[in-house]
Amino acid sequence: MRDLDEQSITNEVLGAVSRTADPRVQQVSKALIRYLHAFIREVEPTQAEWEFGIDFLTRVGQMCSDVRQEFILLSDTLGVSMLVDAINHRKPEGATETTVFGPFFVENRPALPLGANMAPGAPGTPLFVSGSVRDVKGMPIAGATIDAWHSDEEGFYDVQRGEELQMRGRFQADDDGRFWFWSVRPKYYPIPHDGPVGQMLQAQGRHPFRPEHVHFMIAAEGCETLVTHLFIDKDPYLDSDVVFGVKNSLVTDYAERSPGVAPDGSQIEVPYLVLDYDFVLSRKAKR
Ligand code: BEZ
Ligand code: FE
Repeated sequence: MRDLDEQSITNEVLGAVSRTADPRVQQVSKALIRYLHAFIREVEPTQAEWEFGIDFLTRVGQMCSDVRQEFILLSDTLGVSMLVDAINHRKPEGATETTVFGPFFVENRPALPLGANMAPGAPGTPLFVSGSVRDVKGMPIAGATIDAWHSDEEGFYDVQRGEELQMRGRFQADDDGRFWFWSVRPKYYPIPHDGPVGQMLQAQGRHPFRPEHVHFMIAAEGCETLVTHLFIDKDPYLDSDVVFGVKNSLVTDYAERSPGVAPDGSQIEVPYLVLDYDFVLSRKAKR
Protein backbone atom coordinates (compact mmCIF):
# COMPACT_ATOMS: atom_id res chain seq x y z
CA MET A 1 0.00 0.00 0.00
CA ARG A 2 2.48 2.58 -1.22
CA ASP A 3 2.72 5.16 -3.96
CA LEU A 4 -1.04 5.51 -4.16
CA ASP A 5 -2.17 8.08 -6.70
CA GLU A 6 -5.37 9.74 -7.89
CA GLN A 7 -6.40 6.62 -9.76
CA SER A 8 -5.32 3.81 -7.44
CA ILE A 9 -6.33 5.21 -4.04
CA THR A 10 -10.04 4.33 -4.26
CA ASN A 11 -9.51 0.60 -4.76
CA GLU A 12 -6.92 0.55 -2.00
CA VAL A 13 -9.36 2.14 0.49
CA LEU A 14 -12.14 -0.24 -0.61
CA GLY A 15 -9.75 -3.12 -0.01
CA ALA A 16 -8.98 -1.83 3.48
CA VAL A 17 -12.62 -2.27 4.55
CA SER A 18 -13.20 -5.57 2.76
CA ARG A 19 -12.74 -7.61 5.92
CA THR A 20 -15.44 -5.69 7.82
CA ALA A 21 -17.28 -8.44 9.68
CA ASP A 22 -20.79 -7.04 9.54
CA PRO A 23 -21.99 -7.30 5.91
CA ARG A 24 -24.23 -4.23 6.19
CA VAL A 25 -21.41 -2.13 7.68
CA GLN A 26 -19.18 -3.34 4.85
CA GLN A 27 -21.79 -2.43 2.20
CA VAL A 28 -22.35 1.03 3.69
CA SER A 29 -18.60 1.67 4.10
CA LYS A 30 -17.84 0.71 0.51
CA ALA A 31 -20.68 2.78 -0.95
CA LEU A 32 -19.61 5.76 1.16
CA ILE A 33 -16.02 5.48 -0.07
CA ARG A 34 -17.02 5.05 -3.73
CA TYR A 35 -19.44 8.00 -3.72
CA LEU A 36 -17.20 10.28 -1.66
CA HIS A 37 -14.25 9.65 -3.95
CA ALA A 38 -16.44 10.19 -7.03
CA PHE A 39 -17.67 13.45 -5.50
CA ILE A 40 -14.11 14.64 -4.89
CA ARG A 41 -13.04 13.67 -8.42
CA GLU A 42 -15.98 15.61 -9.87
CA VAL A 43 -15.57 18.71 -7.70
CA GLU A 44 -11.77 18.79 -7.45
CA PRO A 45 -11.82 20.95 -4.28
CA THR A 46 -8.94 23.27 -3.55
CA GLN A 47 -7.24 22.72 -0.19
CA ALA A 48 -9.08 25.84 1.09
CA GLU A 49 -12.44 24.47 -0.08
CA TRP A 50 -11.75 21.14 1.64
CA GLU A 51 -10.99 23.07 4.86
CA PHE A 52 -14.21 25.06 4.44
CA GLY A 53 -16.16 21.81 4.06
CA ILE A 54 -14.61 20.38 7.23
CA ASP A 55 -15.34 23.64 9.08
CA PHE A 56 -18.95 23.65 7.79
CA LEU A 57 -19.59 20.13 9.10
CA THR A 58 -17.89 21.04 12.38
CA ARG A 59 -20.21 24.03 12.77
CA VAL A 60 -23.24 21.87 11.94
CA GLY A 61 -22.22 19.58 14.80
CA GLN A 62 -21.52 22.45 17.19
CA MET A 63 -24.99 23.89 16.49
CA CYS A 64 -26.63 20.70 17.76
CA SER A 65 -28.11 20.71 21.26
CA ASP A 66 -31.03 19.17 23.16
CA VAL A 67 -33.40 21.40 21.21
CA ARG A 68 -31.63 21.81 17.86
CA GLN A 69 -30.58 19.10 15.41
CA GLU A 70 -28.68 20.90 12.67
CA PHE A 71 -27.63 17.62 10.97
CA ILE A 72 -31.29 16.68 10.48
CA LEU A 73 -31.95 20.18 9.10
CA LEU A 74 -29.06 19.61 6.69
CA SER A 75 -30.55 16.26 5.68
CA ASP A 76 -34.00 17.89 5.30
CA THR A 77 -32.79 20.78 3.15
CA LEU A 78 -30.75 18.50 0.87
CA GLY A 79 -33.80 16.30 0.26
CA VAL A 80 -32.20 13.34 2.04
CA SER A 81 -34.90 13.07 4.73
CA MET A 82 -37.68 12.85 2.14
CA LEU A 83 -35.70 10.30 0.12
CA VAL A 84 -35.22 8.12 3.21
CA ASP A 85 -38.91 8.59 4.01
CA ALA A 86 -39.93 7.51 0.49
CA ILE A 87 -37.72 4.40 0.61
CA ASN A 88 -39.09 3.38 4.00
CA HIS A 89 -42.77 4.06 3.33
CA ARG A 90 -43.65 2.34 0.09
CA LYS A 91 -47.33 2.18 0.96
CA PRO A 92 -50.19 0.17 -0.49
CA GLU A 93 -52.54 1.95 -2.90
CA GLY A 94 -54.96 4.18 -1.01
CA ALA A 95 -52.87 4.62 2.17
CA THR A 96 -52.21 8.22 3.21
CA GLU A 97 -48.77 9.42 2.09
CA THR A 98 -46.05 10.33 4.55
CA THR A 99 -43.82 13.35 4.89
CA VAL A 100 -41.06 14.67 7.18
CA PHE A 101 -41.36 14.49 10.96
CA GLY A 102 -39.67 17.83 11.66
CA PRO A 103 -38.02 19.01 14.88
CA PHE A 104 -41.05 20.41 16.71
CA PHE A 105 -42.73 17.28 18.08
CA VAL A 106 -42.51 17.01 21.88
CA GLU A 107 -42.92 13.85 23.94
CA ASN A 108 -44.76 15.47 26.85
CA ARG A 109 -47.64 16.83 24.76
CA PRO A 110 -51.02 16.90 26.49
CA ALA A 111 -53.54 14.09 26.08
CA LEU A 112 -56.81 15.87 25.30
CA PRO A 113 -60.43 14.73 24.99
CA LEU A 114 -62.11 14.82 21.58
CA GLY A 115 -63.43 18.31 20.89
CA ALA A 116 -60.85 20.05 23.09
CA ASN A 117 -59.22 23.32 22.09
CA MET A 118 -55.45 22.92 21.56
CA ALA A 119 -54.97 26.69 21.54
CA PRO A 120 -57.03 28.21 24.36
CA GLY A 121 -56.61 31.97 24.44
CA ALA A 122 -54.27 32.05 21.44
CA PRO A 123 -54.85 34.82 18.88
CA GLY A 124 -55.85 33.80 15.37
CA THR A 125 -58.66 32.46 13.26
CA PRO A 126 -60.44 29.57 14.99
CA LEU A 127 -59.89 26.26 13.24
CA PHE A 128 -62.03 23.16 13.62
CA VAL A 129 -60.06 20.05 12.63
CA SER A 130 -61.92 16.81 12.03
CA GLY A 131 -61.62 13.57 10.15
CA SER A 132 -61.52 9.83 10.32
CA VAL A 133 -58.94 7.09 10.55
CA ARG A 134 -59.54 3.99 8.41
CA ASP A 135 -57.59 1.12 6.93
CA VAL A 136 -57.14 0.61 3.18
CA LYS A 137 -60.30 -1.53 3.10
CA GLY A 138 -62.30 1.37 4.52
CA MET A 139 -62.72 -0.16 7.99
CA PRO A 140 -62.76 2.51 10.75
CA ILE A 141 -59.90 2.22 13.23
CA ALA A 142 -61.54 2.76 16.61
CA GLY A 143 -59.31 4.23 19.29
CA ALA A 144 -56.49 5.28 16.92
CA THR A 145 -54.14 7.77 18.56
CA ILE A 146 -53.94 11.08 16.74
CA ASP A 147 -51.13 13.48 17.53
CA ALA A 148 -51.43 16.93 15.98
CA TRP A 149 -49.09 19.92 16.19
CA HIS A 150 -48.61 23.12 14.25
CA SER A 151 -47.33 26.68 14.34
CA ASP A 152 -49.23 29.68 15.66
CA GLU A 153 -50.73 32.43 13.51
CA GLU A 154 -47.30 34.07 13.16
CA GLY A 155 -45.50 30.87 12.13
CA PHE A 156 -43.85 30.01 15.47
CA TYR A 157 -44.11 26.75 17.39
CA ASP A 158 -44.71 26.94 21.15
CA VAL A 159 -41.22 25.51 21.80
CA GLN A 160 -39.68 28.39 19.82
CA ARG A 161 -41.52 30.91 21.96
CA GLY A 162 -40.43 29.05 25.10
CA GLU A 163 -43.90 29.30 26.58
CA GLU A 164 -46.39 26.68 27.73
CA LEU A 165 -47.23 23.89 25.27
CA GLN A 166 -49.83 25.14 22.80
CA MET A 167 -51.22 24.01 19.47
CA ARG A 168 -50.38 20.39 20.08
CA GLY A 169 -52.27 17.51 21.55
CA ARG A 170 -52.90 13.79 21.53
CA PHE A 171 -56.42 12.51 20.88
CA GLN A 172 -58.09 9.11 20.77
CA ALA A 173 -60.45 8.42 17.86
CA ASP A 174 -63.98 7.35 18.79
CA ASP A 175 -65.55 3.96 18.00
CA ASP A 176 -66.12 5.04 14.38
CA GLY A 177 -62.50 6.11 13.98
CA ARG A 178 -63.53 9.76 14.04
CA PHE A 179 -61.69 12.66 15.70
CA TRP A 180 -62.24 16.39 16.06
CA PHE A 181 -60.66 19.28 17.92
CA TRP A 182 -60.29 23.06 17.88
CA SER A 183 -57.17 25.15 17.29
CA VAL A 184 -56.18 28.30 15.40
CA ARG A 185 -55.01 28.67 11.81
CA PRO A 186 -51.22 28.16 11.49
CA LYS A 187 -48.97 30.03 9.04
CA TYR A 188 -46.07 29.29 6.72
CA TYR A 189 -42.75 29.75 8.48
CA PRO A 190 -38.98 29.64 8.03
CA ILE A 191 -37.12 26.62 9.38
CA PRO A 192 -34.42 27.57 11.93
CA HIS A 193 -31.93 29.38 9.67
CA ASP A 194 -29.61 31.20 12.06
CA GLY A 195 -26.93 28.50 11.75
CA PRO A 196 -24.75 26.89 9.08
CA VAL A 197 -27.75 25.38 7.26
CA GLY A 198 -29.22 28.90 6.96
CA GLN A 199 -25.88 30.11 5.56
CA MET A 200 -25.92 27.24 3.07
CA LEU A 201 -29.45 28.14 1.94
CA GLN A 202 -28.41 31.76 1.48
CA ALA A 203 -25.35 30.77 -0.55
CA GLN A 204 -27.59 28.58 -2.71
CA GLY A 205 -30.06 31.43 -3.27
CA ARG A 206 -32.86 29.55 -1.49
CA HIS A 207 -35.50 30.82 0.94
CA PRO A 208 -35.95 28.97 4.28
CA PHE A 209 -39.78 28.66 4.20
CA ARG A 210 -42.16 25.76 4.64
CA PRO A 211 -45.76 26.14 3.48
CA GLU A 212 -48.57 26.32 6.04
CA HIS A 213 -49.29 22.86 7.46
CA VAL A 214 -50.63 20.84 10.37
CA HIS A 215 -48.54 17.86 11.50
CA PHE A 216 -50.16 14.52 12.28
CA MET A 217 -48.82 11.30 13.72
CA ILE A 218 -51.45 8.57 13.77
CA ALA A 219 -50.87 5.22 15.45
CA ALA A 220 -53.02 2.16 15.99
CA GLU A 221 -52.34 -1.42 16.97
CA GLY A 222 -51.51 -3.62 13.99
CA CYS A 223 -50.99 -0.59 11.70
CA GLU A 224 -47.93 1.23 10.41
CA THR A 225 -47.64 4.54 12.25
CA LEU A 226 -48.38 7.40 9.87
CA VAL A 227 -46.27 10.59 10.09
CA THR A 228 -47.62 13.24 7.79
CA HIS A 229 -48.94 16.80 7.40
CA LEU A 230 -51.91 18.48 5.78
CA PHE A 231 -50.94 21.42 3.57
CA ILE A 232 -53.25 24.24 2.53
CA ASP A 233 -53.99 24.96 -1.11
CA LYS A 234 -52.67 28.19 -2.66
CA ASP A 235 -49.90 28.65 -0.10
CA PRO A 236 -47.09 30.67 -1.72
CA TYR A 237 -44.48 28.06 -0.71
CA LEU A 238 -46.22 24.86 -1.83
CA ASP A 239 -43.94 24.54 -4.85
CA SER A 240 -40.72 25.53 -3.11
CA ASP A 241 -40.91 23.87 0.33
CA VAL A 242 -37.36 24.13 1.66
CA VAL A 243 -37.48 20.49 2.85
CA PHE A 244 -39.24 19.07 -0.27
CA GLY A 245 -42.09 17.62 1.81
CA VAL A 246 -45.21 18.53 -0.20
CA LYS A 247 -47.31 15.81 -1.86
CA ASN A 248 -50.44 16.58 -3.87
CA SER A 249 -52.53 14.07 -1.91
CA LEU A 250 -51.76 16.01 1.29
CA VAL A 251 -52.81 19.41 -0.07
CA THR A 252 -56.30 20.31 1.03
CA ASP A 253 -58.20 23.49 1.86
CA TYR A 254 -60.18 25.05 4.66
CA ALA A 255 -63.93 25.40 4.40
CA GLU A 256 -64.85 28.95 5.52
CA ARG A 257 -67.77 29.06 7.94
CA SER A 258 -69.87 31.90 9.36
CA PRO A 259 -70.64 32.33 13.06
CA GLY A 260 -73.30 29.96 14.35
CA VAL A 261 -73.52 26.34 15.43
CA ALA A 262 -70.21 24.55 14.77
CA PRO A 263 -69.95 20.90 13.60
CA ASP A 264 -69.50 19.74 17.22
CA GLY A 265 -72.70 21.52 18.27
CA SER A 266 -70.93 24.38 20.04
CA GLN A 267 -71.91 27.99 19.41
CA ILE A 268 -69.24 30.16 17.78
CA GLU A 269 -69.55 33.93 17.54
CA VAL A 270 -66.85 34.61 14.90
CA PRO A 271 -66.08 33.28 11.41
CA TYR A 272 -64.01 30.10 11.55
CA LEU A 273 -62.35 27.50 9.33
CA VAL A 274 -62.88 23.76 9.03
CA LEU A 275 -60.12 21.33 8.02
CA ASP A 276 -61.54 17.88 7.40
CA TYR A 277 -59.50 14.92 6.17
CA ASP A 278 -59.81 11.15 6.13
CA PHE A 279 -56.57 9.35 6.94
CA VAL A 280 -55.88 5.83 5.74
CA LEU A 281 -53.40 3.61 7.60
CA SER A 282 -51.77 0.52 6.18
CA ARG A 283 -51.91 -2.69 8.20
CA LYS A 284 -48.59 -4.17 9.32
CA ALA A 285 -47.53 -7.12 7.22
CA LYS A 286 -48.18 -10.43 9.04
CA ARG A 287 -45.01 -12.34 9.84
C1 BEZ B 1 -41.51 21.16 10.39
O1 BEZ B 1 -42.39 21.10 9.58
O2 BEZ B 1 -41.83 21.30 11.56
C2 BEZ B 1 -40.06 21.09 9.94
C3 BEZ B 1 -39.65 20.06 9.11
C4 BEZ B 1 -38.33 20.00 8.72
C5 BEZ B 1 -37.43 20.98 9.13
C6 BEZ B 1 -37.87 22.01 9.95
C7 BEZ B 1 -39.20 22.09 10.34
FE1 FE C 1 -43.94 22.11 10.81
